[in-house]
Amino acid sequence: MSQRVTEVTAFLAEILTPRAPLTVIVDGGDHGAATRFAARLAAAFPPSARAWNVDAVLGLTGPSGGMFDSALNVLEPAADRVIVYLRSGGRGPAGAGEQRAQVVIDNNDPQWPVIRQLHPRLADPDRWHLSESQAFFAPRAAGWDAKFGDDLPAYAMAVEAAGPEPGDVALDVGCGTGRALPALAAAVGPSGRVIGLDCTLDMLAEARAKGRNQAAALIQADARHLPLPDATAGVVFAAGLVHHLPDPAAGLAELARVTRPGGRLVLFHPTGRATLAARHGRELTADEPLDEKNLGPLLTGAGWSLTSYDDADDRFLAVAARL
Ligand SMILES: C[S@@+](CC[C@H](N)C(=O)[O-])C[C@H]1O[C@@H](n2cnc3c(N)ncnc32)[C@H](O)[C@@H]1O
Repeated sequence: MSQRVTEVTAFLAEILTPRAPLTVIVDGGDHGAATRFAARLAAAFPPSARAWNVDAVLGLTGPSGGMFDSALNVLEPAADRVIVYLRSGGRGPAGAGEQRAQVVIDNNDPQWPVIRQLHPRLADPDRWHLSESQAFFAPRAAGWDAKFGDDLPAYAMAVEAAGPEPGDVALDVGCGTGRALPALAAAVGPSGRVIGLDCTLDMLAEARAKGRNQAAALIQADARHLPLPDATAGVVFAAGLVHHLPDPAAGLAELARVTRPGGRLVLFHPTGRATLAARHGRELTADEPLDEKNLGPLLTGAGWSLTSYDDADDRFLAVAARL
C-alpha cells in the first residue's frame, strides 16, 4: 500500500471531515483509478464521518454535462459537494474536468498521487503547497536535464532579455537544477552575485551535481517567503514558477519586495503556453495568470510594470520592471 496514497487521502479526509455532510466525487483518470482512489479516501475518514457509500457512479451528470466516475457520500444528506479530479495522461483534454474540480491531483503514477490544486476555501495553501510541490518535483529532479537539457541556449537568451549588469545581484527563484545559473553568473560577472532558490532539495542536489554551485549560492527556500532583505536584487529570473504558486499575485509581490526599484523580472518558459498546455492534454483557459490580459494587472498590483510579453510556440518570455 503506497505511503503517498495514505498521506494524500488522510489529508483530504482531515480537511473534508469538518464539512460533512458532503458528497465527494472522484473524476478523471480511468474508471478503475477513480474507484480505487475513492475507496481509499472513504477509508481515510474517521468512523464518526465514515462514508457509507463508495460507488462507481457512472453517468452521474456534472454541471457541464460531463460524467463522473465515482462518488462517495459522507453522512447523508449531503449539503455540500466536492469534486476531486485525477489528472492522468491516459484520457483526453482535462480542461473541463479540472475546471469544475476543487481538488486536482496528479495521478499519472497512482502509487504517487500529488495534490496540484486545492481550493483555498478547503484548506490554507500553507498546509499543503510546499510539501506537495516537493513530492511532485523531487522524483523528477534526477531526469530533469536529460529531458529538458537542450533548452540551455533558450535560457541564455532569456537571461539576456533581463539585461543584467555587471555587479548586479541576480536571483533565480524556483531555480530547479539551475539551468539559468551559468548564464546569470556570466552576465553579472565576478563583482556580481547569483543566488538560486528552490523549495525542493533534490532539485538543488542535482544543480550541485552539475557543478552549478560554482555559479551561484544555492538555498532551499519558499518563493512565497524569501529569506532575503527588501530591495536586494537587480534581476529576478523565474522560469516555470509562477503558475505553480497557489497565489500568483502574492508570489509576484514577494518577488517585488526583494527587488530594488528599477530592477527587472523575467518570467520564462522554454515552451509557449499553448504548446505546453497541449503537451499536458489541457486547453488554455482565459483565467490563467500568465495570459497577457491577466498578467499586466497582476504585475501592476504586485509592484511591477510589464515591459514586454512574448508567448510564441517555442517560448514564453515576459519582462517587467520594478516600480
Ligand atoms: C517547472 S520547475 C522549473 C525549474 C527551473 N526553473 C527550470 O526552468 O528548469 C519549477 C520549480 O519550482 C520549484 N517550486 C515550486 N514551488 C515553489 C515554491 N513555493 N518555492 C520555491 N520553489 C518552488 C520546484 O521545486 C521546481 O524546481
